This record gives sequence, C-alpha cells and structure tokens, in this order.
Amino acid sequence: MTEDFEQRKKDHIRLALSEKQTQGLVASEFSKIKLLHHALPEINFNEVSLETTLIGQQVSSPHFVSSMTAGHADSKRINLNLALASEQKNWLMGVGSQRRELTDSLAVQEWQTIKKAVPNAKFISNIGILELIQNPVDSIVKLVENLDAKGVIVHLNPLQEVFQKNPYIDMTLGFKAIETLVKGTKTPVVVKEVGFGINSEITQRLFELGVAAVDVAGSGGTHWGWIEALRQEDDSIERQAIDAFSDWGQTTVDCLLHAQEKILFNPIWASGGIRNGVDSAKCLALGARAVGLAQPLMKAALDSEETVLKVMDLFDYQLKVAMFCTGVRKCEDYLHKKVWQCQT
Ligand SMILES: Cc1cc2nc3c(=O)[nH]c(=O)nc-3n(C[C@H](O)[C@H](O)[C@H](O)COP(=O)(O)O)c2cc1C
Repeated sequence: MTEDFEQRKKDHIRLALSEKQTQGLVASEFSKIKLLHHALPEINFNEVSLETTLIGQQVSSPHFVSSMTAGHADSKRINLNLALASEQKNWLMGVGSQRRELTDSLAVQEWQTIKKAVPNAKFISNIGILELIQNPVDSIVKLVENLDAKGVIVHLNPLQEVFQKNPYIDMTLGFKAIETLVKGTKTPVVVKEVGFGINSEITQRLFELGVAAVDVAGSGGTHWGWIEALRQEDDSIERQAIDAFSDWGQTTVDCLLHAQEKILFNPIWASGGIRNGVDSAKCLALGARAVGLAQPLMKAALDSEETVLKVMDLFDYQLKVAMFCTGVRKCEDYLHKKVWQCQT
C-alpha cells in the first residue's frame, strides 16, 4: 500500500514533466488577452512593487508555489528546495497533499524536518475533497497545526479521481464538508481545482460558505487526467477514454473572464498553465489576487534551491516589467484599472 503510494507520487512527477503527453494539451488562452501598453507610465520602475497581502500574510509577490508533492523518497529534497527558496523570496508555498499523514504518523516527520530547516517559510496545507468528506474535521485541522500553516487548501479533482481508478468517489457531501471545515477552523480555507477550472457559479457558492479565496486552477497547463491515465494498463478503459478529455475544462483565462463581476469583492486566485510572468500579469489584470506555479517550479526543484530561485526571480521580473509598461505600480491597482483587451 505504502509502496503503491510512493510509486504513484513518483510517477506524477515523471509524467508532469513529460511535456508532450501531459502539458499544454489545450491552448492556455493567454494569447487571447492583450495587455495595453502604456507608452508613458508616469511611475518610477524602482517603485513598482509586487508586495501584497494574501490570506492575511504580507508577502513579497502575488506568485505562490502551487501545491505539489510529499510522501516519497525524493519529496524531502524537492520540498526543501521549494521551501528554502520560498522563505528567501517571501512567497507563500502550498504543500502537496497531506493525505498520507491522516493514516501514517511517520509521514508527519517529513514536514517537521523541513520546518526545522526553514522556520520562516509560509506554508499552506493541502487536502483533497474526498479526504475532507471522509475524515473528521479535527483530523484535517490537525494537519494544519502540524505544519503551523497559514491556511489550508482543499483541492477539487473529480476527473483526476476517476482516471486514478479510485473505487470510491462519492462527492455528494462536498459543499457540506467545506462548510464544516470553514466553521471548524480559524485558518483561512482556500479551494482550488487541479487544472480543469472552477466556474463562477461554484466560485460564488464557495464564497457564500465563507472560504477565504478560490483558486480557479484552470486548464492550459498540466493535464491530470492524462497523468493518471498514462499510469494505467495500455488496454485499460481509462487509456482508451482519455483522448476524448484532452481539451476538458475551462482555461484559467476563461474562468477569470467569467468571474469578472465577482472579482472586485472576492479574492480569486489563478493557476494552471502559467508559464511566464506576463501570463501572471494577465491574471492580475483580469482580477486575480495571486498566481500559482506548479510544473515550472517542480522542474526547477528537482535540480536545486538556486534553480528554483532563478525561476522565481524570472517570473517576478517579467511581472514587474509588465506592470511598469501597463502603468501599474502595485498589484491592487489592477482591481481599479482596466489595462487589457480581448484579441479578436
Ligand atoms: C508533480 C505535481 C504534483 C501535484 N500534486 C498536487 C497536490 O498534491 N495537491 C494539489 O492540490 N495539487 C497538486 N498538483 C496540481 C498543481 O497544484 C496545479 O493545480 C496543476 O498542476 C496546474 O498547474 P500547472 O499548469 O502550473 O502545473 C500537482 C502538480 C504537480 C506538477
């Protein structure tokens, strides 16, 4: 059972990095959005600031590490690289699913060791919707406490669960479970998808339940249906079925466009297919308060802390240049200025 779990997590990393099979199977639609160039921005480039506040935390960038991995032989090194760089850059870091910690007390140690080495990293816990439904809320709150996390992310992943061949996928009580968690903890609760998008009706319902932020996590980046299907036998029904789901979901851009009327009043975050800091600027221009990166940081984290830092620096720099050249001095200004148009 433990070996299966570890092998699955390792396969996820290998397949997420196999660009042809699982990346960008859908156009991300960032090319559909044009930022409006400001030829005379009337601001000082050195004063353009990425600093912002997310779930009550002062951070140096709206970029954050989108939840990734834990619980296998390589994960301590990967997460240490991510955590060291996140601490240095003062970015929020979503940790990978803490599901294993619910049943294996040894799994908690992985994060304890990292926390000791990186005491000032700002972690956000992570758990799947099925685990949230199936476990008492106290056990989920314990995961947050173990990590001394600044918030907890619940990931919604119906398509992934199906192609993972999970024999028990009952999401009937999903909204109820999220409501129970919101009521059962003082920690901010964030809800995300894993790359197929959360539409504006669901976003609205989640905010009515009191969640602190919704990360729309749209399509255009890593395809979690393909990752799981590629782990199944060649002649399995999952392998035969997955092709029809290649362009499944709403892109990150589409989710943000549809959420426009809710965006001023609710913290909406964006992730899924963000591959440079101009994509990030487009997300902020469309009203997102935070922008999450997964696959590009995983690639870097397999290498070293320095490589992660280089990727983070590049994303922040590209975002800062895009802000300057659209006449925006701080992230929050995007909420009050329209600096984009849809390409026809
Ligand atoms: C190797 C890997 C592992 C992941 N594991 C998790 C996870 O445990 N929990 C979660 O909420 N999302 C997980 N994700 C999904 C990402 O957080 C993100 O939503 C998705 O990959 C889309 O972003 P991207 O296009 O930048 O990769 C994982 C992503 C990668 C690449």
